[in-house]
Amino acid sequence: MKLTSPFNHFLKFLQIKDESLLSYIGKIEFPNPIGLAAGLDKNYKTSINYLNFGFGFAVTGTILTNQNFGNPKPRLLRYLNNKSIVNSLGFPSEGLNTIKNKFSNLEIEKNRIFASISGLNIDDIYRCFNELSPLVVGIELNISSPNTQGLKNFHNLKNLQKLLKIFNNKKTKPLIVKLPPSLEQENDLIEMVKCVQDSGSEGVVISNSHPIKDSKLNIGFGGLSGKPVYEHTLKMVSKIRKIVDNNFTIIGSGGVSTTSDVWKLIASGANAVQIYSGVVYEGPFIAYKINKELKNIFLSNKISSVKELFCSESPFPSKY
Ligand SMILES: Cc1cc2nc3c(=O)[nH]c(=O)nc-3n(C[C@H](O)[C@H](O)[C@H](O)COP(=O)(O)O)c2cc1C
Repeated sequence: MKLTSPFNHFLKFLQIKDESLLSYIGKIEFPNPIGLAAGLDKNYKTSINYLNFGFGFAVTGTILTNQNFGNPKPRLLRYLNNKSIVNSLGFPSEGLNTIKNKFSNLEIEKNRIFASISGLNIDDIYRCFNELSPLVVGIELNISSPNTQGLKNFHNLKNLQKLLKIFNNKKTKPLIVKLPPSLEQENDLIEMVKCVQDSGSEGVVISNSHPIKDSKLNIGFGGLSGKPVYEHTLKMVSKIRKIVDNNFTIIGSGGVSTTSDVWKLIASGANAVQIYSGVVYEGPFIAYKINKELKNIFLSNKISSVKELFCSESPFPSKY
């Protein structure tokens, strides 16, 4: 992706500009609902290139205060049979200062880049939040990586409440919280979502990768992403939309790789989606392909826009 920069001008056709695709995260408008999920560009090397390839927005990170090398290898596995990925990267990051400099140095508008931030204590996360907020369109707070044990502290509602109160009192940009899938206790996820909504945050990402044991990983456990997690994403987005206000943002993340996946999530109440594994398995044109199909299906089914599809429960047209 880095090598594509000289060709930006020629890639304009990949950015489908059509009113029907306009999407909103909080009150901010994006050209389409397809986002690049956190993790593919941890250190702000390619996010802009993904936007040039037709993504509506991109999440850079997860960024930590200090440089971090992550967990020992092997830490990344591909299972081609079911188009999944298992990882135990554990937040390799160039660290806040380096990434902040990159954000500040580049004379490129960052009005479609979110910074994903994390850390094990409130002070560290707050530093990232405070220093990165002016440079990006919004902050995605990651409390859900399955490979970093200490993050579970923030799954406790009192700790989460305390953290979000501090951030929401000081924020100048939308704050989106990326939650764990809470596979065993769906209700835990529902309670976390309510806590995020009550705190005044703009929305949630549902969800991070699913905790899984895998003896091929050096540390023996990690997170599962890709096709096998899609049904859970859809089920939880649908449940959560029924308990939150319609102006609270839900971003669906987990197993999204086709136009039908995106359609069903939006019809069930997602405002937008984020894709990681789909980029790995389907390639970098995935956002262009989905946006083009969405636009055409809207046209032939007399649906005016993403806004009209949102929460409509409209089935994906069978001939596609
Ligand atoms: C190798 C890898 C690294 C990831 N790193 C991060 C990360 O740094 N921060 C984060 O919030 N999510 C991270 N994720 C999770 C993805 O952003 C995404 O939520 C998850 O993979 C589910 O989406 P998918 O099925 O489209 O991959 C990572 C996922 C993978 C596969």
